[in-house]
Amino acid sequence: MTLPPSTMSAALDEELRALETAGLKRALRQAQQRRAGTVIFNGERVADFASNDYLGLAADPRVARAAWAVLQAEGTGAAAARLISGNHPIHETLEHTLARLKQVDFTLLYPSGYMANVGVIAALADHGDVIYSDALNHASLIDGCRLSRAQVRIFPHNDLDALSAMLEAERASFRRALIVVEGVFSMDGDMFPLDRLVPLARRHQAWTYVDDAHGTGVLGATGAGTIEHFGVDGQIDVVVGTLGKALGTVGAYVGGSQELVELLVSRSRSFIFTTGTPPAMAAATLEALRIAQVEGWRRDAVRERARRLRQRLREGGLDVPGDAEGHIVPVIIGDAKRTMELVANLRRRGFLVGGVRPPTVPPGTSRLRISLSAVHPMELVDTLAASLCDALRVR
Ligand SMILES: Cc1ncc(COP(=O)(O)O)c(C=O)c1O
Repeated sequence: MTLPPSTMSAALDEELRALETAGLKRALRQAQQRRAGTVIFNGERVADFASNDYLGLAADPRVARAAWAVLQAEGTGAAAARLISGNHPIHETLEHTLARLKQVDFTLLYPSGYMANVGVIAALADHGDVIYSDALNHASLIDGCRLSRAQVRIFPHNDLDALSAMLEAERASFRRALIVVEGVFSMDGDMFPLDRLVPLARRHQAWTYVDDAHGTGVLGATGAGTIEHFGVDGQIDVVVGTLGKALGTVGAYVGGSQELVELLVSRSRSFIFTTGTPPAMAAATLEALRIAQVEGWRRDAVRERARRLRQRLREGGLDVPGDAEGHIVPVIIGDAKRTMELVANLRRRGFLVGGVRPPTVPPGTSRLRISLSAVHPMELVDTLAASLCDALRVR
């Protein structure tokens, strides 16, 4: 019997062409041999202002050596979910170290920040609950809200008055309320005012959930993140941080009370049904945490470079939003295609910057996303600013 042909390729091709026409088609490029703020991208070494390696630890040989030592002793994989037979003592050492840094009772590791957010939000909220989510929250937080089956209310970005009015109007109609925000917003680089969030949430018996993917390691005197920056240590119910950004390795953790972590171990599907972090990667993260603690100059260096870039861009006539020291610098372009043309133009000049389009950001707000690293030479920051101003022809 001859089978009719599959219709998949034709249907997907049509969809891909629509994405191309809208300037929204994405494609993978190769990046390798990261060192000193540069990377070989599609075969050419460029200055890397697109990654989240804020402290310059992703290619630090000390971190690699720590991983290597455990690789030799333990092999490559955890081999099973941690609840089955994949729970290595080094996972627990890392969890205790992260708990001390974050000033929480316990933490729990996840294979990635995406998995932490979907698995934790879905474990905490259900039918009959409400989640208040900042309008600019990361896709993983949005997906966690959707998976939870709770009612989701989006409040305008960083707008505590609007959030307060929503809580006032309807909090009483729901069992649990969870307020979900980012510490440092990934695409805008600004911070949520956590010091004002805590009293508001407590007044309404709402729980606070802060994804500090971009603050961890960088902000606060010891690198504990926005929690430390705003002095709300121990006051946020759920703190999530990622290990693949400032700490240069991979994975994520969620921190909070003993009850929170115990519940997640029994309920959080993206923790339960997945293989544990490779022990060697946990060792690498422990070393990265040690370096981040003793080399505080890295945090100062990122801030200094962020200040310098903003100053140079403003001198060049650009309007750059955000905190003067924020290590993520967005340059809003608007149109998606124009944004990607600028990304290509900068790449020809030897700079890799992020081009961010919908659905990552709202339509009409496509942008260049420039991220600073402690290991960027200052002259490179100046040259990037000059090249960008030139590419935009605003000088
Ligand atoms: C705010 C935020 N949360 C979570 C994640 C996901 O983290 P991971 O890359 O570890 O999955 C990201 C990464 O881009 C992020 O920006």
